[in-house]
Amino acid sequence: MDSIKIIGGNELNGTIPISGAKNAALPLMIASLLTDGTLTLDNLPRLRDVELLTRILVNHGVNYSVDGKRAGDGTMKGQRVHFSAKDVVDTTAPYNLVSKMRASFWVIGPILARMHEARISLPGGCAIGTRPVDFFIDGLKELGADIEIDQGYVIAKTKGGLKGNRISLPAPSVGATHTLMMAATLAKGETIIENAAREPEIADLASCLTKMGAKISGAGTSTLQIEGVDQLYGAHHIVLPDRIETGTYAMAVAMTGGNVLLEGTRADLLQSAIDTLVQTGVKITQTDQGLHIQSKGYNITPVDVETQPFPGFPTDLQAQFMALMTKAKGRSHIKETIFENRFMHVQELVRLGANISLDGQVATIEGVENLKGAEVMATDLRASVSLVIGGLAAEGETRINRVYHLDRGFEQLEEKLSACGAKIERISG
Ligand code: EPZ
Repeated sequence: MDSIKIIGGNELNGTIPISGAKNAALPLMIASLLTDGTLTLDNLPRLRDVELLTRILVNHGVNYSVDGKRAGDGTMKGQRVHFSAKDVVDTTAPYNLVSKMRASFWVIGPILARMHEARISLPGGCAIGTRPVDFFIDGLKELGADIEIDQGYVIAKTKGGLKGNRISLPAPSVGATHTLMMAATLAKGETIIENAAREPEIADLASCLTKMGAKISGAGTSTLQIEGVDQLYGAHHIVLPDRIETGTYAMAVAMTGGNVLLEGTRADLLQSAIDTLVQTGVKITQTDQGLHIQSKGYNITPVDVETQPFPGFPTDLQAQFMALMTKAKGRSHIKETIFENRFMHVQELVRLGANISLDGQVATIEGVENLKGAEVMATDLRASVSLVIGGLAAEGETRINRVYHLDRGFEQLEEKLSACGAKIERISG
């Protein structure tokens, strides 16, 4: 298994191009199942999760082709991929595929809406929590689906197609909002989704679905209105920039010090995290090129945060912010309110010399003068990258094992950081 070796202590200076958002790319790819036309996605990041989902879509009958590199394309530009689900040949998503990536469960929405039946494996729990699918099942039932669970599979059927209805989500689940919105585009009549998630990736999917012929209003608010149509068509869409990658590199610069342009990204995608970083003492400026991050890397002001659905502080940046707080001048608290088990980075950060104590869903971090390099283990995607940030700021060598988690969600991480002066390399093994 590969590991990452970092010699910490270098400032970061230069430019980091921000990739297309993983969490927008996945539902956009799934939307291709709604039409027999071709959905072309630009700025699609080269990530393990994108590859994995492609395999799952192929299993359902989706054909795809990747455009070759064009003259002038930088090596860090995303790819253009055409997805075409002319015929959905298989309405089953098997356990061996769905269990590898939870978001693949979301295919249930488009497959059921288009084919009037779907047999999708339950995704199971994962490292950060139990992650049930009750909101999806209840929502699809509201749209008229008959659903039973048999041998670990959700078997959904609808005679004559889904029917629009009013759905009130118990909590603003990102996945349930994506799935029910996609399903409702082909339902008969109007669907209202109340308490919908407001993450920018929802609005990005709604914008793509609209290009495909869907009638959606309210995207980005907590009430979505979808007027069902008979058919959707092919379209072209550019995946929006990755706000979590943006926040991650901003926090890395905040901790190591330096001056980095995060190219092609926007502050409004993560305003709450930007505001928090500014409170810690980081200077952040938005220009046409992207976000400029400037930090001294010391005298970091401790700030308390609580994770919240968008527009609050994202749970996907909690681990990275904790890494930053380990070097703050004083005590901070971080409360995780979205997932019940998203503190697995704590013990690994402690191995780097951090002083963190846990009480239920609240971590108390006493800032230390310096972290010291150590051997640590990556446990999930965002936890892994918090260790990279810690390692970049720590004295001496840090070795991060089990880095395959990083490849799920960070495109060319070592290349991007090395180009800004970090000493980071992948050791194959
Ligand atoms: C999405 O996961 C993201 N994944 C996650 O990013 C992110 O952490 C999460 O939203 C929250 O922002 C993708 O976009 C691919 P949820 P999702 O449904 O949709 C509970 C990363 O690192 N819930 O909004 O699975 C659930 O247990 C990943 O990139 C139910 O109880 O998250 C959780 O406590 C990890 N029943 C809360 O809602 C349900 O049926 C929010 O989860 C559905 C959800």
